[in-house]
Amino acid sequence: MKPQLVAFTATLLCLLAAPAEAYYTVLQESYTPSNFFSKFNFYTAYPTHGFVQYLSKADAAARGMIRTFPDAVYIGVDNTTANAFSGRASVRLESMATFQRGLIILDLEHMPGGICGTWPAFWTLGDDWPNNGEIDIIEGVHDNAVNSMALHTSAGCTITGAGGTGSLTTSNCDVNAAGQGPNQGCAISATCTNSYGDGFNANGSGGIYATEWNSAFIKIWYFPRGSVIPADVLGPNPAPETWGPPVGMFQGACNIDQKFRKHRIIINTTFCGDWAGNVWSDHPNCLAKEPTCNAFVQNHPEAFADAYWRIKSLRVFSS
Ligand SMILES: *[C@@H]1O[C@H](CO)[C@@H](O)[C@H](O)[C@H]1NC(C)=O
Ligand SMILES: *[C@@H]1O[C@H](CO)[C@@H](O)[C@H](O)[C@H]1NC(C)=O
Ligand SMILES: *[C@@H]1O[C@H](CO)[C@@H](O)[C@H](O)[C@H]1NC(C)=O
Repeated sequence: MKPQLVAFTATLLCLLAAPAEAYYTVLQESYTPSNFFSKFNFYTAYPTHGFVQYLSKADAAARGMIRTFPDAVYIGVDNTTANAFSGRASVRLESMATFQRGLIILDLEHMPGGICGTWPAFWTLGDDWPNNGEIDIIEGVHDNAVNSMALHTSAGCTITGAGGTGSLTTSNCDVNAAGQGPNQGCAISATCTNSYGDGFNANGSGGIYATEWNSAFIKIWYFPRGSVIPADVLGPNPAPETWGPPVGMFQGACNIDQKFRKHRIIINTTFCGDWAGNVWSDHPNCLAKEPTCNAFVQNHPEAFADAYWRIKSLRVFSS
């Protein structure tokens, strides 16, 4: 080939190979310790499921269950009430801002440890569930050792799980899918025990969870603090296409733009309820303590000292 043609061909190949979104540059929302609690609503309605009392911002602050430090915020639960007969106090935060597509980067030092009775989650949710979807980024119950990630949608969305390091549990994201448990959705489990609870907290003080949501896929990575974290993850221009395979790869026969719309970020620690309450007897360590999930949560405040989130930052980049 003539040199000009070689140069032209090389340029063309680069253009063709360039990903549609090389990196993210627009910081849509930045939650820091000083602004964190002013950018979330505190959900206080009595939940129909879950043995929990969600507190208002004023009550949570008065009881020391939300606290602001120079480098992090603390979000805890009631660890002192001896007989929490109508449910243990906790906090459920819901972002005022809504998001559609983008990159959500959560840097945390601590999440609720794998404690019997707890069901903590960091997730996103659209209105009119399940029609605008739900993305569960960090979730687990009781003494689970690995993180469980999931999508919940209306009918007509399935994933293959291919391309991620996690293991596919269920492939149909439809909350009413035949052959799956009620509201199971499509789920992927992490395989490493430093992805959730005590294992995550022990790994050099937490780590980072990053979720990339675009029209083609939803990918979830986590980087334990004790591992090599790509420098750009916490920088101004994160470039997820350079991070290697995610743990959770959600892609398949699913129109993501149609199924996932205008989400709020939610952080909550609930107790018992639909998932945690129903599987109590599948967790022998928990069952040995009390016959039911509610009884354990009611009677053992000391068990929940480690059921707190300590978050350094949360940033959402738009695409
Ligand atoms: C709290 O979190 C769990 C876990 O994601 C969720 O299923 C539940 O609906 C939440 N509770 C409330 C009242 O929002
Ligand atoms: C118990 O909860 C309170 C309020 O959330 C908190 O200030 C305290 O640090 C917790 N105790 C432990 C040991 O974490
Ligand atoms: C943290 O996780 C990384 C990656 O899995 C591992 O190499 C490292 O040994 C862990 N560190 C601690 C303190 O557990």
